[in-house]
Amino acid sequence: ATTIPNDYTVRRIESRDFEGAKTALAGLTIVGEISQKEFDSILNYWDSVLLPTGEQAYNTFVITVKDTERVAAIGTIFIEKKIIHNGGLVGHIEDIAVNSDFRGQKLGKILIDYLSSVGKQLGCYKTILDCDVKNVGFYEKCDYKEAGIEMQIRY
Ligand code: ACO
Repeated sequence: ATTIPNDYTVRRIESRDFEGAKTALAGLTIVGEISQKEFDSILNYWDSVLLPTGEQAYNTFVITVKDTERVAAIGTIFIEKKIIHNGGLVGHIEDIAVNSDFRGQKLGKILIDYLSSVGKQLGCYKTILDCDVKNVGFYEKCDYKEAGIEMQIRY
């Protein structure tokens, strides 16, 4: 796995990441109008959802610049408890975004490697994700393989 450069930190998302998280995620999709208060209540909700093991199901991490605390990248691994596979756990990687000022420096790969290791540590038998065709090469570099296709219904 690629190691994190000295001038960056990987940590769980916090309230103070409000602006930085929104900016990074705006490079992925529509963030919409979300207040600091709503942001904090989402983080509190995430913190409250526990697996039977007592571990947190929602795990959103940021890579920040050590000096400035600027959010360079953000991503989530959500852990799902199943009946199948002997009551197994599956990791779902969601909402990956590297701030456009920080792309091409391996931070995306470092983040995916980190999230994948969290899934393994928490006992998942696999971790899966959906992505655009244009990002297949990126995920292949992170050791993911194509498996099936995404289907959706939109509301
Ligand atoms: N296609 C093919 N290869 C790629 C791509 C791509 N789209 N993007 C990066 N790579 C390669 C790099 O060249 C590098 O290869 P190397 O190790 O041989 O030099 C390797 O993948 C790692 O690249 P990083 O530098 O870690 O990529 P970066 O930090 O720029 O992050 C990311 C890539 C996350 C796709 C970024 O461009 C981004 O945030 N894009 C906009 C939002 C987005 O599309 N997010 C993913 C949504 S899917 C999801 O959330 C589950």
